[in-house]
Amino acid sequence: FQVPMAINEPVKSYAPGTPERKEVLATYKDLHNTTIDIPLYINGEEIKTGDTATMSPPHDHKHILGTYHKAEKKHVQKAIETALEARKKWGNLEWEQRAAVFLKAAELIAGPYRAKINAATMLAQSKNIFQAEIDAACEFIDFLRFNVEFMTQIYKDQPSSTSGAWNRLEYRPLEGFIYAITPFNFTAIAGNLPASAALMGNTVIWKPSDSQIFSAKIIVDIFKEAGVPDGVINVVYGDPVMITDTILASPDFAGIHFTGSTHVFKDIWAKIGSNIHTYKTYPRIVGETGGKDFILAHASANTKQVSTAIIRGAFEFQGQKCSAASRVYVPKSSWADVEKHLIADLASLKMGSPEDMSNFITAVIHEGSFDKLTKYIDQAKKDTNAEIVAGGGYDKSKGYFIEPTVIVTKDPKYTTMCTELFGPVVTIFVYEDTAWEETLKLIDETSEYALTGAILSTDRYAATEATKALQNAAGNFYINDKPTGAVVGQQPFGGARASGTNDKAGSYLNLLRWVSPRTIKETF
Ligand code: ALA
Repeated sequence: FQVPMAINEPVKSYAPGTPERKEVLATYKDLHNTTIDIPLYINGEEIKTGDTATMSPPHDHKHILGTYHKAEKKHVQKAIETALEARKKWGNLEWEQRAAVFLKAAELIAGPYRAKINAATMLAQSKNIFQAEIDAACEFIDFLRFNVEFMTQIYKDQPSSTSGAWNRLEYRPLEGFIYAITPFNFTAIAGNLPASAALMGNTVIWKPSDSQIFSAKIIVDIFKEAGVPDGVINVVYGDPVMITDTILASPDFAGIHFTGSTHVFKDIWAKIGSNIHTYKTYPRIVGETGGKDFILAHASANTKQVSTAIIRGAFEFQGQKCSAASRVYVPKSSWADVEKHLIADLASLKMGSPEDMSNFITAVIHEGSFDKLTKYIDQAKKDTNAEIVAGGGYDKSKGYFIEPTVIVTKDPKYTTMCTELFGPVVTIFVYEDTAWEETLKLIDETSEYALTGAILSTDRYAATEATKALQNAAGNFYINDKPTGAVVGQQPFGGARASGTNDKAGSYLNLLRWVSPRTIKETF
């Protein structure tokens, strides 16, 4: 049970003149100038269906990066058959062999593939290099290494035995196959959802987001080079409803590992419910969905720290994190100072393409997202109970650029205080200092989602009170920090309410969902 000790991958600096900066920029240029044609991957075979769609950088949407091929129903059915066939060998392989494959994948990302997976994430998901490095390199590597450690932690957990008998728990994969649906916003999550289920001996059909297929192809190459056998992770894209319906109709569907929107997850849950009599086993349903994450500033908090938490929490990664701060509560006594810092700090941040490393904010993922976000911004410009105090500008002529936007409202239930927007827009409600307890109650009552939240306070009594009062409002709660940036192995990540099943990515709790233990009692 001794595996190489998992440590968090050190984040490279990409400072001017560093070799990693030169390499990633050269790789970005190469990927930009090459047109790629991405097939489906079923049983290790590359399938080109001829029904294609194009991919473009969100910050330069007229440029074509290449195409990907869409699956028909028969391809999805083939992926199901393949996954079931591959499970016979993969599910019976010694755990050390499966661990070795994914530990090798981690080393490939840390070394030879680092520049490529980062550059692809910059290019096709519009992350600046610092964000790409944290996501596509470090977090992905961390997931793969820590999962192996968590797996051995699970396997070590054995029941007690009396003399004359020996009780054992055998951690087997689920009976059937797993469906992984992954989002555009984290290359690491895209890789981890199929990989974590596969590590535990399951075989997988993986449907990446259309906006992440470009970097998903590099993940496929890494898994192949690391030795993931054919058929263990099969990759399909295309009409999501057809793909999902075909998969959920299979009697061998054994579980879903999902990260994406709340409404898609609820639809899938309902479909699983209506198919329940066709399944051989109760499917595991694991989902991380939306968020409407908060920052609560107490009057004792340092106002510069409040401003920094808002800017980093709300605008890093273009606000396209399920954990991103999108509603903020600031006491009246602090507001003038917080506003002054916010306006000054935001004025110093640059927006533009990720290949210019001085840009803090880049483009949002696609036109649909741009149109939705700008509709809310335009509405706030008109509404009498809202005021835009920073940003509010946007332009989609070259890429989907939206300025970091701060809305202030007098109504704590204003639309953008309650609706998940998933972009660089944050709304602030200024509360009366005397209404501290009411504010705690209000935050809890308006938390339809419960993913992340933060309290900023130098008053320990206030911080403790908030931690208790908001215990159901966030699965990841931060004291004196922004509500983002959970690190694998350090802050297990996930939330409840409309935010998901809270199966904590980056901990053994998630891996437990991918095993079906058998108890064996042997009598002597
Ligand atoms: N794990 C990511 C974060 O905490 C989503 O920001």
